[in-house]
Amino acid sequence: MLAGLTGARAQDYPARTVTIIVPFAAGGPADITGRIVADIFSRHLGQKFVVENVGGAGGTIGALRAARAAADGYTILSGHLGTNALASAFYPNLGYDPRKDFAPIGLTAEYPELLVVRKDFPASNLKEFVAYARSNASKLNVGHAGLGSVSYIGCLLLNSAIGIKPAMVPFTGTAPVLNAMLAGEIDYECDPVLGTLSQVRAGNVKALAVAAKKRSPMLPDVPTSHEQGLPEFDCAPFYGVFAPSGTPQPIIDKLAEALNKGLSEESVQKRLADLGADIVEPNRRGPKALADLVKSESDRLMPILKAAAGK
Ligand code: MLT
Repeated sequence: MLAGLTGARAQDYPARTVTIIVPFAAGGPADITGRIVADIFSRHLGQKFVVENVGGAGGTIGALRAARAAADGYTILSGHLGTNALASAFYPNLGYDPRKDFAPIGLTAEYPELLVVRKDFPASNLKEFVAYARSNASKLNVGHAGLGSVSYIGCLLLNSAIGIKPAMVPFTGTAPVLNAMLAGEIDYECDPVLGTLSQVRAGNVKALAVAAKKRSPMLPDVPTSHEQGLPEFDCAPFYGVFAPSGTPQPIIDKLAEALNKGLSEESVQKRLADLGADIVEPNRRGPKALADLVKSESDRLMPILKAAAGK
């Protein structure tokens, strides 16, 4: 009886507006990605999917809220490498288990990070940056989206590779970090490429390195960290969609199918490519591929992060 009822409800899903929690401030990479996902679901599932920004504590406040929501498909999370794989490295009492408390739906995009400095920062490449940062570390302010966010993780890898411990200044997302950098209050940040792309292009901030092996087609003149001799600074976080665990399988399947359809659309692929994303190939889409990615990224990065954080 109960199974039948659940089945019927799952069949009607979605029968009303669905909330997508984005665990960071509006206007940044997580928010932009979450809104692309909301648009895909709204168009393919015939109901409104609305983004709710729940920022704070490196995305873990929003992720916790999603983990504890009713497992009925009406509250889902657009999370990422930090909230859904690595947060437990930073928070001993996280309140949720990134692997056990979420049912993965699918990978949305991966974006390499950029090292971005304020316009008048006295360095124009990674070598000059390292020299200046080593001599002036105690004066530097690094902006990030909270402990465990991907902007925090990226700069943790960078700072530990060059042996500095500057002040790490938390915000609720990297959109407010960028505003603070434009105001001259923040010296540098490490953010997925889409976060600062337009300000880099406008010349209002400077991108010194792509934290990857290959350059970004969106910023072909910016050399990679590998080219500039700092391969430890390598960070291309995934963004993906998750439901609270226990969400009925037919609902997970519907969401996964809609996401897959959306990611196959030319307009969506162009939008993501214009933001500097690596497009997710069909064999990497869906719940199983995302579950595998969460596991492999946790296994790969946990020891590196613990070493970088000196734990
Ligand atoms: C944001 O959207 O603010 C960032 O992607 C969050 C983060 O750095 O993890």
